[in-house]
Formats: sequence, structure tokens, C-alpha cells
Amino acid sequence: MVPLASAPPLWLRDNCPCADCRDPRNGQKLFQITELPGALAVGAVHDARTSDGAPAREVVWAPDGHRSVYPETWLGAHLPDAAGSPAFLGDGRTEDDKELWAARRFDSGLPEADWEAYGTDPDVRADALASVLRLGFVLLRGVPVRDRQVLDVARTFGYVRETNYGELFEVRVEADPNNLAFTGARITPHTDNPYRDPVPTLQLLHCLVNAAQGGDSGLVDGFHAAALLRAEDPESYEILTRVPVPFAFADDRTELRAHRPLIGTDPEGRVREIRFNNRSIGTLRLPADRLDAFYSAYRRFGELLLRPELRLDFRLAPGDCLVFDNTRLLHARTAFEESGARHLQGAYADIDGLASTLAVLRREAK
Ligand code: OGA
Ligand code: ZN
Ligand code: ZN
Repeated sequence: MVPLASAPPLWLRDNCPCADCRDPRNGQKLFQITELPGALAVGAVHDARTSDGAPAREVVWAPDGHRSVYPETWLGAHLPDAAGSPAFLGDGRTEDDKELWAARRFDSGLPEADWEAYGTDPDVRADALASVLRLGFVLLRGVPVRDRQVLDVARTFGYVRETNYGELFEVRVEADPNNLAFTGARITPHTDNPYRDPVPTLQLLHCLVNAAQGGDSGLVDGFHAAALLRAEDPESYEILTRVPVPFAFADDRTELRAHRPLIGTDPEGRVREIRFNNRSIGTLRLPADRLDAFYSAYRRFGELLLRPELRLDFRLAPGDCLVFDNTRLLHARTAFEESGARHLQGAYADIDGLASTLAVLRREAK
């Protein structure tokens, strides 16, 4: 049995599951941290059972006599010295919780799902969504080639993030493009919309037509690239995690700005978010020596992101819908013949919604 002695009293009491402390209908906490006695201490501990008979321990608190019954399984998983885990667990979004990859990882195939099976089989759906969290992407095949279908794809796992581009954006050659994506130009590996705060965490690209010469797709694992930079050139890595970069987008109706480092880390220093987009990086304003250091680091990272072994190349066919983590993967496309037919519809959504959908699917599968 796990000793309770190591548990900080305020922490343990804050997690009391009793009906006075948490509304049994929704599990939400009913008290404020300031309402707990200042000199809180564990008075007595007894073996007990939960209301459904599971082994538990009851704490009688001093000075207020409140009683808390903690299931043994909960104590085993959460007590500070029992977890056997690093001091701070990841939140599911950092490099620690991902499978980092280079192109070779997919020699035997991409993570993909057939649209029909995805719609009818919860296991297929769960696997596809889990791929987005673990590898950063999934390719849905056989998605109906229909205008605005991309929105229905997003709604299978979350909520469409509407932006100044609309609910969806058309990726095709335009006469007066407000973005290079809407030309036949090559687009090097980038994350989308780094000029937004918050950035859209998921992107969908649904291929309707891809008959032009060129226009192949590429993906790069930005977390893997950042980890390589950290190993090969720690100084450059450090600079890219610390220098806020001004990203900007403007057209006649819009003026967006966000300042973020190219490599975002969590408070424990783990890689958590990549923003990289040569088209929308603004003018940095720093002392000359810091500009020099930043640009040299930026270039190093840019070179690393272009290593052929890191880039997964493939070609979207009509009916393919790529769903990917826009805070981790960089996407690219080769140039294509503007006279040829190529049309994708894209949309943004968010990872928290996808993770929630997956968690509920897993709960239901139990
Ligand atoms: C984009 C983009 C890729 C493509 O629109 O943001 O990167 O394949 N498009 O056209
Ligand atoms: Zn309580
Ligand atoms: Zn893009």
C-alpha cells in the first residue's frame, strides 16, 4: 500500500472526491483553494471502501474533521512518490509524447484510412486520429470529391476554425493571389498561419483535382528536425527557442501579426510548437549582434529542414484528404504547371477537439 505521508496536505485535500467537494453530476470542484483551512493536516487514516466497494483509504482531516475517501487505484496512480514518472508529465503535445520520424519510417506505407471504414468503424476512426497525435498526420482515402467536403471531414473529429480566408480556402491558381499558395510556385516546407495567435493547430488539405505536371506533396517532422538541431548545434537551437519572431500577413481586408519563437518549448524545455514560414516572416528588430546570431541559427534550421532524408514525398490524388498537426509538421509542395488543373480545398481545426474525440472513442470501446 502506498504511504500517504508523502502527500502534501493541500494537494491531497484539493483532490477530495466527496460530494461536498465535487458536484457528483459533473465532477467539477465546488470550493476555492482559499477556502481550505490554512493549517490543514492529515489527522487519521483508515482502510475503507468506496461506495462501489473498491479498496480505498479514508483520511480524517485536521482541523476541520472533513472526511475524504480516496480509491487505492487513484492513490497508486497519482501520489507523488508512487507515480514512478518524471517530475513533470507531458501534456500529450510535446516531443516526449510523439514518435519522431524521418521519411524512411514510411517505407512500408503511410498512416491512412479508407473514408468509408473511417465513417463506420470506430476502431478505424480511433486509429486514424491516434496517428495524427503520434505521427502528426493521417491520410484519408476515398473521401468524396465534393465541394466543401473538407468541412465535413473536420467535423468528424472537431470544429472548423474559420479565418479571414473563410471556413475553407481554395488552393488553386488565382489571377490576383493574396498568397503564394494560390499560384503554381514551389512552396518549401512551412507551417501555416504563424501570424495567428493562437495558431490553427490542425490543417486539412482535401484534393479535388491533381492533374497538373508537378504539385507533389511533402511533409517534414519539425519536432524531429528541432531535436536534430539541438543535438548538432545547441547554440542555434537555444536562439531559436528564445527569439520572438514577428510573423505578419496583410491584404486589403486583413492585418495579422504574432510574435513567437520558431521553436516553442514547454516550461520543461521540451519542443512543443514549430512556426516556420519564409513567406510570412516579418522584419526582426534586434541589436545587430543578436540579428546576426538569429539569422545564422535560422539558416541552420532552414538547411536542416531541407535534408532529403527528413522529407516524406508523396502525391495527393483526388479523394485524398490529408489531416496534419500544424504545430509540428511542415508541409510543402513542388511547383506545378499553371496551365494544368490542380485544386485542393483546405481548412483549419484544432487538436484539442481531435484529442477529445479520440478519448471519447476509447472510453466507449472499453
Ligand atoms: C497551403 C499549402 C500545399 C499544396 O495552401 O498552405 O501549403 O499542396 N498548400 O498546395
Ligand atoms: Zn471532500
Ligand atoms: Zn501551407
